[in-house]
Amino acid sequence: MKAKITVNKNQVIGAIDNRIYGSFIEHLGRAVYNGIYEPTNACADDKGFRTDVIELVKKLNVPIVRYPGGNFVSGYNWEDGVGDKSKRPRKMELAWLSIETNEVGVDEFQEWAKRAGTDVMMAVNLGTRGADEARNCLEYCNSVTDTYYANLRRKNGFEEPFGFKLWCLGNEMDGWWQICSKTADEYGRAATEAAKVMKWVDPSIELVACGSSDMGMPTFGEWERTVLDHTYDYIDYVSLHCYYGNKENNTPDFLANAENMDKFIRTVANICDEVQKKKNGTKQINLSFDEWNVWYRTKDEEKTAERWQVAPHLLEEKYNLEDALLVGCMLMSLQNNCDRVKIACIAQLVNVIAPIMTENGGGAWMQTIFYPYMYASLKGRGETLVSKVECDTYKTTKGDSIPYLYTSAVDSKEGELTVFAVNRSLDSDMELTLSLEGYEDYKLVDHTEVYHDDIKVENDKDNQRVYPVSREINDTSSVILKKHSWNMLTFKKQ
Ligand code: AHR
Repeated sequence: MKAKITVNKNQVIGAIDNRIYGSFIEHLGRAVYNGIYEPTNACADDKGFRTDVIELVKKLNVPIVRYPGGNFVSGYNWEDGVGDKSKRPRKMELAWLSIETNEVGVDEFQEWAKRAGTDVMMAVNLGTRGADEARNCLEYCNSVTDTYYANLRRKNGFEEPFGFKLWCLGNEMDGWWQICSKTADEYGRAATEAAKVMKWVDPSIELVACGSSDMGMPTFGEWERTVLDHTYDYIDYVSLHCYYGNKENNTPDFLANAENMDKFIRTVANICDEVQKKKNGTKQINLSFDEWNVWYRTKDEEKTAERWQVAPHLLEEKYNLEDALLVGCMLMSLQNNCDRVKIACIAQLVNVIAPIMTENGGGAWMQTIFYPYMYASLKGRGETLVSKVECDTYKTTKGDSIPYLYTSAVDSKEGELTVFAVNRSLDSDMELTLSLEGYEDYKLVDHTEVYHDDIKVENDKDNQRVYPVSREINDTSSVILKKHSWNMLTFKKQ
């Protein structure tokens, strides 16, 4: 099969906000306990953080990590996780039916984030709690005033404020599964009042209002309209969440979800613009795609798992090559929609639907999805260009016509152009020609590929079967993209 990509230096979609390469750590399963934190592990540092995990997080160059949930946050009392560890309460955690020991809380997490070289995107509880808790938590984290919560932070050993700049107003409040879920009007009011007082405490913060939990929610669209109608004056972003799966074992349909993600983003962006217009507003509401990934094998696991365990094995999805291909495409979708998506978090980072896995008392290893995420984060910084794709298409069971090639092109603005490309054909290699207008003095210097003959192959703690290889460059006018492969082509200014 032949394919062609045309980019033009002057056709720019927008500047990429590096925060689209963010991730997420929730108090869920083994994400925190035995994930980032395991004081008894041989590689634990002085605070009990696993240094092997920190090293892998650094390899991913994760700019921001959402914390502490997720569904967890809707029943969380942040005060339980600060100060003297020996006095912290052990609690029934209702989102995941586990025991929360509170050994790790915001005091520890901000320290972990520093050590991992990342920022924190903090979430407040708008399920069981509201504006009062939100403003107190913000005061604790960010204030320099001589007041109760800022002083409590000082008393707990943190003279300097944590300085979290980005805050989520609850999580998935439209979902029946959420602790104290709300109607759009109820949430819109609660989020508005929380946002108001939070911006009075610290006007420098940015706020994310909850959009729908998924594009498939019955209230999708109306939820966004109503919530934005209430919150428009006080918030900066609306959230999108989306998990894809291949339950039907139909890989062509599964890989076509990249286009579904594009559609989701454009639909929510249009709603934001519609509300802005209705309000005669000057502020553009942008998007925070703060949960996205492949997740289907371990959905609803908490319902059948043994209850009231500390750090149970939950949502430990094992990823294969086809998952890595879709994750690669989803990252390209975020790049191609960088004019509206300013924040995105792959959900999650360690053990729970994650690129990084750990063994209790043992080592850490990389899932297949680690690699497309790592390269997007490392090489996908700069400006996204419009990519014009010419190639054969296939039909999904829904009747959609999908090009075999999915791509994005990022100009680093520092003499490097990176083209990401997935060949979605399950049986044909692709001869790809690139027409790089305005880049005549650039030369292909690297072709990195993630491929395995078996699209269902997984990595595990002992075997990295799926990993990147640097391919030899023979003919710089065209390259071969193997069937069902992820590719990264780097062009350098000569
Ligand atoms: O990431 C796992 C869960 O998925 C999160 O807690 C929730 O927000 C979403 O439904």
